[in-house]
Amino acid sequence: MLSHILLLAVWPLLGALAISPNNTGISRSWSEAQQLASEFSARLTLTEKAFLATGWILGPCDGNIAPIPRLNFSGMCLHDGPAGIRVADLATLFPAGVTTGATWDRDLMYARGLAMGEEFREKGSHVILGPVAGPLGRHPLGGRNWEGFAVDPYLSGIAMEETIRGHQDAGVQACAKHYIGNEQETERSSVITNGIETAAISANIDDRTLHELYLWPFANSVKAGTASVMCSYNRLNQTYACAHDRTLNEILKGELGFQGYVMSDWFATHSGVDSVNGGLDMTMPGPLSQGEAQTLNLSAIPFHEIPSWFGTNLTTAVNNGSVSEARLDDMVLRIMTPYYLLGQDQDFPSVDPSNAWLYYVSYGLAQLNPAIPVARDVRADHGALVREIAAAGTVLLKNEQSILPIRNVTNIVVFGNDAPDTSDGLYFLGPITDPSRPLGAKYGTLAVGGGSGAGRTSDLVSPLRAIRERGYRDGFRTQYITNNDLLAGNNLTSIFPLPDVCLVFLKTFSTEGWDRLSLENDWNSTLAVENVAALCSNRTVVVTHSSGVNTLPWDDKVAAIVAAHYPGEQAGNSIVDVLWGDVNPSGHLPYTIPKNESDYDFPIVNITGPDALNSDAWQEDFTEGLFIDYRHFDAHNITPLYSFGHGLSYTTFDISSDAQVSWIAQNLSALPTPATTSTPGGNSELWGGVLNITTTISNTGSVAGAAVPQLYVSLPTRQDGGAPSGTPRSVLRGFEKVKLEAGQSIPVTFSLMRRDISFWSVEEQEWRVPQGDLQLDLGFSFGDIRASVTTQI
Ligand code: BGC
Repeated sequence: MLSHILLLAVWPLLGALAISPNNTGISRSWSEAQQLASEFSARLTLTEKAFLATGWILGPCDGNIAPIPRLNFSGMCLHDGPAGIRVADLATLFPAGVTTGATWDRDLMYARGLAMGEEFREKGSHVILGPVAGPLGRHPLGGRNWEGFAVDPYLSGIAMEETIRGHQDAGVQACAKHYIGNEQETERSSVITNGIETAAISANIDDRTLHELYLWPFANSVKAGTASVMCSYNRLNQTYACAHDRTLNEILKGELGFQGYVMSDWFATHSGVDSVNGGLDMTMPGPLSQGEAQTLNLSAIPFHEIPSWFGTNLTTAVNNGSVSEARLDDMVLRIMTPYYLLGQDQDFPSVDPSNAWLYYVSYGLAQLNPAIPVARDVRADHGALVREIAAAGTVLLKNEQSILPIRNVTNIVVFGNDAPDTSDGLYFLGPITDPSRPLGAKYGTLAVGGGSGAGRTSDLVSPLRAIRERGYRDGFRTQYITNNDLLAGNNLTSIFPLPDVCLVFLKTFSTEGWDRLSLENDWNSTLAVENVAALCSNRTVVVTHSSGVNTLPWDDKVAAIVAAHYPGEQAGNSIVDVLWGDVNPSGHLPYTIPKNESDYDFPIVNITGPDALNSDAWQEDFTEGLFIDYRHFDAHNITPLYSFGHGLSYTTFDISSDAQVSWIAQNLSALPTPATTSTPGGNSELWGGVLNITTTISNTGSVAGAAVPQLYVSLPTRQDGGAPSGTPRSVLRGFEKVKLEAGQSIPVTFSLMRRDISFWSVEEQEWRVPQGDLQLDLGFSFGDIRASVTTQI
């Protein structure tokens, strides 16, 4: 147990610089930043170089690079996570990745990234441990899918780009994670039982699938200039992802031209020399031991005494020649260049002193006490943005007889344990620290999932609170039953009189460290909905706060269904905005909702009994190749309940059938010209526009709204020169969010890049444009195509 006195003794070392919340506005080119980094590196001893690549102690931030006081370098602070600063007071809990993906709105993705970046910077955090593109969402039950944006690589890629630009425009480094193949949580890490180590699961992915699905959004991330990439816990094709020469050295740093640094996930490093030579640049959380830290004249908290693979082991490896000094210099250059690029050497705010306390208090390592400083309030007006994004990421799945928006009601009942304030507090870490509560809090709205992607709120507006406030304003009364046991037992006798509308709030908890057990919503949701629907025939509206894919077995018994995902701290306000029509819903599904759980065919690999301990037992074969989510449903002729990309509005939209195609590239070569320089994102020709398609989108209803026209592309496959077998019939390659007044029509142009109409040729190790008929489908979801055009490549 740590005393707070020890913490206070350590703290001043980390908070050396003055607080300056404004960005410095420094604008440096990569080569200028690299020059500064190399001048800095030239002044370092071998040990200091090694320590720069090794995390320090636990706290004040999730990851820490030790200061080097003699060079006035105050170290680096790395913080979770993808929905806001997890370990911080008076910071904003933003909508989760899946909610943001469901907006299909580039501007909001960027605005969220920027606002998060501002908060991290003002809290003194140099690096945001996010955003997330892995897991992509192969398994609908995957515990961390909600941290990312979408199961489709194109949509995920755009969201990664916008988010990273936002973070880094605020002066904070982004860390695209988890690279690569971390698609399930079960056995994601190695496990030691009775001294015997069982290796982490091996995601066995072929080269084409890797490139066209799982790598795709990371390519966007590199193109957007992400400072760092976090390698994942799992093995890939039998080798740990953090020592994977092929994916780190050849693909990420070679093919994609990544110039920043690869950081390990926490304790995901399994070797020293092999990992460093395999492409790993920084190990997290290290840790440096107390002895190692003392060589820097720092006192360390003796919390982790697990030896690190780096630290002094790395200096030994350089001294004995197993790692070249040039490689270590490259690591330092990669780590320090983004630091200088973003001006973090100048007037960067110190780490908020309350952070260390919060960290230790929340892990039970220190007690609350009056000496703890008040947190720096970095929330600004971000609550309004959270509310806007959460409403924009809310998907109206069904709306019979236009029961929504709610109008002219005098009496409403709110049902469900997701509706009220949370019973267990305002922090959502969940079972990662308390396995006795696998579904998180029983009572209370679910604003975000659990684990490192969770967040802490200073205030969380629950649906029940927001609806009651609306009722006081509009003059309706609000009854409620928030105990799902009563609902499941059909004990609804407290309700009187019969309401105009019944709202049922359901939740689906999902967390790092565990995969979900079922696609249904939690807490007896099916019985709860069926009983309410029987009472409130034709007037039941179900709202889900969920990590993503659910089965909805009561779909035909209710009038409306609203998928509100994980909305962040304004949960109640954002859902009231949509239910009462202040915001016209415009969210669309970033995944497919099935009729039955069995429609998805991607079971989580789970081995039980003695076999689970076989050192190499855990194998996850991605034999479906490119056919996940809607591509899988399409290939197997399975009709989903709600298609990928589906989302209703309170108005109606149309797409004109006479779309115009114009080729930008004349005589497009099948292969791009080989790149002569290494550019972030890889060969720049892949990102060049080759073809435009223009159509007209109309609002055919009576209120203003935002449409999301989507472009799906079918590569030629049957002809000679077409794409090889294993190519999905149709994939997403464009979308726009288009705001339209009632009756308004506007032209919309989609631009396709070379990469968008190519497949990865394994033989040639290159993106190849196939020859033949290219079909372009425009619609409002994968299952709602309104116009098609064919053009010749
Ligand atoms: C997670 C990472 C996270 C890290 C630091 C790990 O368990 O996988 O996503 O950034 O912890 O908290």
